[in-house]
Amino acid sequence: MANKYKGFLIVSTICLLLLGYYQFTEYRAWWSFPLYDDGLRDGEVGDKVIIMAKLAVEDTSWVAEHLSDWQHAIYTVNDPFSRLHTSTNKGHESLAYLTYIISHYHSLPSTLLFLHAHRSGRRRGWHTDAWDWDNVRSVKSLNLSYVQKEGYVNLRCNWKPGCRPQDYTPNGHVSKQIWLEVLGPGSNGTEDEVPEMVGQPCCAQFAVSKMQVKQRPLEDYISYRQWVLDTELEDEKSGRVMEFLWHVIFGKGAVFCPEPSACYCNLYGRCDGVL
Ligand SMILES: *[C@@H]1O[C@H](CO)[C@@H](O)[C@H](O)[C@H]1NC(C)=O
Ligand SMILES: *[C@@H]1O[C@H](CO)[C@@H](O)[C@H](O)[C@H]1NC(C)=O
Repeated sequence: MANKYKGFLIVSTICLLLLGYYQFTEYRAWWSFPLYDDGLRDGEVGDKVIIMAKLAVEDTSWVAEHLSDWQHAIYTVNDPFSRLHTSTNKGHESLAYLTYIISHYHSLPSTLLFLHAHRSGRRRGWHTDAWDWDNVRSVKSLNLSYVQKEGYVNLRCNWKPGCRPQDYTPNGHVSKQIWLEVLGPGSNGTEDEVPEMVGQPCCAQFAVSKMQVKQRPLEDYISYRQWVLDTELEDEKSGRVMEFLWHVIFGKGAVFCPEPSACYCNLYGRCDGVL
């Protein structure tokens, strides 16, 4: 009798351990995004570039260290003596983004990834949609063939802020007048064509294919940059305007809010449906 119980105990302990292990790996799957394999050999640099704006005090060595399979174009916005810099510090990251496109328009790599200068951590990275708000993880999981297929993706799937109805009905940063100033008049040149609502998830981290960039002539990007240089809006406000217009510039409708669980699945291969 006693032996029978012993056997039962051993079997149930093993079952519990297996169940625990399964739960643990499930949990890991929940917070870690599977890595995307883009077929590069070790040490190879791909046909893809990370574009970034940084302040002189910011340390971006994490990019070369952890994302060495990407080309880098890191612009210092407040140091005219650094190798890559913007002509002035305005429009937050937007001048660096536009300056890269304008200078490389005729020799772009296939994938362009626009990122902020901080790597991780909640305080500065709260808007990065990955474990520990970590851009390295987010970039390593990003499905580059999906980017090619879509043309433009916002790296943030979470709708807060930017895609909640209160964020874009109307969008407090992009008025009709601002839309017309930046993008120019539409085909009939009147305000009637300007959408009432403009929205996408916040924070200006996104990926674009070369093909999508080329859907617009170089002159368009030059004129957006001129708007940033000329506007009387202060740095942060002009940055916000561009933040809520990138998706329009890159061919999406005025409100571009993919359903979050589909977004996590398509962008990061995280298809478990858990948000
Ligand atoms: C990446 O995206 C492509 C295009 O949508 C899809 O066919 C492929 O299965 C995805 N790969 C992974 C690893 O999720
Ligand atoms: C301009 O286009 C909008 C939207 O297509 C239309 O509603 C409006 O009547 C047009 N205005 C003129 C003056 O043609």
